Amino acid sequence: MSSAAVEARGIAKAFSGVAALRGVDLVLAEGEARGLIGENGAGKSTLINVISGALRPDAGTLRIGGEAVTLRSPQAALEEGIGTVHQQNWLVPTLTAIQNVELGREPVTRGLHLLARGSMPQSRAALEFVGLLQAAHREVASLSLAERQLIAIARAYARGSRVMIFDEPTAALSPVETHYLFEVIERLRAAGTALLYVTHRLDELAHVVDRVTVMRAGEVVGELPSSAHERELVERMAGSERVEHEIEVVGERRRSTVRDRAAEPVLRGSRLSDADGAFHDVDLEVHAGEVVALVGLPDSGAVALARTLAGAGRLRDGELRLNGAALSARTPARAVRAGIGYLAGDRKLRGVLPNFSVRDTVTLSALPTLSPTGFLRRRGERRMARELSGRCEVRAASLSMPITALSGGNQQKALFARTLATSPRVIICEDPTAGVDPGGREALYGLLAGACEHGAAVVLCSSDLREVSLISDRAVVFWRGRIVSELGRDQLSVSALMEAQFNQGPGSARTAMPTAS
Ligand SMILES: Nc1ncnc2c1ncn2[C@@H]1O[C@H](COP(=O)(O)OP(=O)(O)OP(=O)(O)O)[C@@H](O)[C@H]1O
Ligand SMILES: [Mg+2]
Repeated sequence: MSSAAVEARGIAKAFSGVAALRGVDLVLAEGEARGLIGENGAGKSTLINVISGALRPDAGTLRIGGEAVTLRSPQAALEEGIGTVHQQNWLVPTLTAIQNVELGREPVTRGLHLLARGSMPQSRAALEFVGLLQAAHREVASLSLAERQLIAIARAYARGSRVMIFDEPTAALSPVETHYLFEVIERLRAAGTALLYVTHRLDELAHVVDRVTVMRAGEVVGELPSSAHERELVERMAGSERVEHEIEVVGERRRSTVRDRAAEPVLRGSRLSDADGAFHDVDLEVHAGEVVALVGLPDSGAVALARTLAGAGRLRDGELRLNGAALSARTPARAVRAGIGYLAGDRKLRGVLPNFSVRDTVTLSALPTLSPTGFLRRRGERRMARELSGRCEVRAASLSMPITALSGGNQQKALFARTLATSPRVIICEDPTAGVDPGGREALYGLLAGACEHGAAVVLCSSDLREVSLISDRAVVFWRGRIVSELGRDQLSVSALMEAQFNQGPGSARTAMPTAS
């Protein structure tokens, strides 16, 4: 029998006595492409962290190419042939792309000197392999998330890695970037690299992997072909006892809650231009109960407008009105006070304060609405946190644990709870369900729909075009800072949205990665 690329047996890991992995077996054959799915908190990242040397397991054995190994660091795993693209980034931001590719390869005495030159031929070949040679000497800090992922791949490729692990790589990528990443993954497969691929976007699985391992509550509970029906995958993830609630797997379109288009819109922007030149002369109206998607390529201005509406960017020109009254929300905090909630999926950059408990994270924005002091305030806070985290399906052993000890998806759900806590009139969402499992997504869509029923207006930016097509009433399409077209509810499909973003002008049909410049 030929030896497996990776063989993990009986892996166990607990955090402060709470088991995250309970004796997990995972065998990845040479050249195999395997998916790994499970609800938020199931233990996927923990397992990956063990296999990639970032965490030491409490029990269990790990074999690479048949050899028993003890991995003391991610660097050690890399030298053993295991490369990883983590949920959070592990590169050194102040070094260049090629220096990061070479990191840890030189004898210490000559190290920095060689690093400064980025001289190893296999590093250049690796950057070329992922299509990033032109960025070799740029600082990683100036590169996009998608480009950083490609560098992490190049690091492994330069060392001839036999295994590449991905932890939700597409959660925060635009559709174009995702498309490009899949191309690179295809090249890895053709080169014989084995893949372990974690995602909550189940429709990706069939493109990337052959078989899918399902985890639940720290255990492996099944293995299915990647062509399995989505519902089957979700049922396996949730366990039979929960299926009844979750049988409506993301797929049913939200019922429209727009009542009166003739009425004064909740949010009205006229001739909006921002200080950075990201968008020009934009008119936008969002009515009570309406979900309006802003779509476009990464530099189209759609996201910049959403952030500016949320008080995180500066307007140079134009006028904003909230329920008819002039609005000036120059900071995120003032926007929240004015009734504009903001939810971003990129939880590492925005929103999660590392020293906060789950409870404090959820209630942060709503504190001014609670009674001012003492016992009543604490009780109110606890009740609000409990109620909202329940509705948003946050799974935490305790609400007083640090927010950063939650799994990625559960952190995201806690941020959603915080956004809802202030009952905003306008909710600006940027990748609101990135990293959230299907059950949680369903719950969050339900909560958004509930807010709409109560007259909230929603502005949605999402790289998940399926999400856009399912929950929006219409989509306005941005091209080079201007609105160029609009898709009505009946025209909203993934392919139509994809096409609308691309086919707007000469030179628009790009297949290469759009690099930040
Ligand atoms: N550093 C930590 N400290 C304490 N608990 C942790 C830590 N990291 C993970 N956990 C706990 O371990 C469990 C598994 O988390 P893990 O991050 O592996 O889940 P996951 O399957 O990757 O979920 P997601 O889909 O949300 O990313 C969770 O209950 C989580 O709260
Ligand atoms: Mg995870």
